[in-house]
Amino acid sequence: MSLTDSPTVLLIGASRGLGHAMAAEFLVKGWRVVGTVRAASGRTLLHDLADAHPDQVDIETLDITQSGQIRALRQRLSGRAFDILFVNAGTTNPDPTQTIGEVSTEDFVDLMITNALSPMRVVESMADLVAPAGLIGIMSSGQGSIADNESGQRELYRGSKAALNQFMRSFAARQAQTPRAMVLMAPGWVRTELGGPEGRLSIEESVPGVVNVLLDKLGRPGLEYLDYRGRTVRW
Ligand SMILES: NC(=O)c1ccc[n+]([C@@H]2O[C@H](COP(=O)([O-])OP(=O)(O)OC[C@H]3O[C@@H](n4cnc5c(N)ncnc54)[C@H](OP(=O)(O)O)[C@@H]3O)[C@@H](O)[C@H]2O)c1
Repeated sequence: MSLTDSPTVLLIGASRGLGHAMAAEFLVKGWRVVGTVRAASGRTLLHDLADAHPDQVDIETLDITQSGQIRALRQRLSGRAFDILFVNAGTTNPDPTQTIGEVSTEDFVDLMITNALSPMRVVESMADLVAPAGLIGIMSSGQGSIADNESGQRELYRGSKAALNQFMRSFAARQAQTPRAMVLMAPGWVRTELGGPEGRLSIEESVPGVVNVLLDKLGRPGLEYLDYRGRTVRW
């Protein structure tokens, strides 16, 4: 389901990895993409996509941890309307094998800011640019599930995504009457820079599913925690 003749997604963190692949997938489906990269990243894969599809892709800059940059982007996008806002940007701590007791305070703070606080700041700031019956989504992870955590490992990363999930539930609870669809997405374990070479899925095995699940969810109000196949993930 699309809402307008020229459906548009605002995709935060589209320079490489899953975000870049999502941008390419939305283009295949005829969508317009406003994708963000960090200014310091220089030329990215999103720039190649924009060169190949100049009428369909606009590039904006945003580091999600910089509140001033969020405000500036919101200002630049004033008057625009989006069918989907999706925050993909995220990272992990330098040594994901560390237990929570081993993690430095600095790494803890950095990851919580990037993975939990900053995506919510983007959502809170940009939400009113999303059509009333549009969709707001964030890239979570299956590792954000508390119920499914029976193996430990990547403890800080898990905690940051679990916190993100909780914050998004609060956001959704504040607007229980909205027709908007909301999604916390678990893309599977994918071979990207973050996922590493051991990941179970290629980008091509994950991302088309991720995008289809978002499109299927359009028009279905309320928040769901879904994986790339559309299966509900336990909180
Ligand atoms: N790969 C997996 O197995 C997996 C599984 C579950 C969830 N995820 C989630 O999927 C998302 C994308 O991961 P990926 O695997 O594609 O990783 P990736 O290849 O390392 O890409 C990370 C993306 O996030 C951007 N980013 C990181 N910090 C940012 C910041 N402060 N401001 C703006 N952009 C920032 C990066 O931009 P730069 O190019 O500027 O660094 C890049 O576009 C993340 O939220 C991750 O937690 C991944």
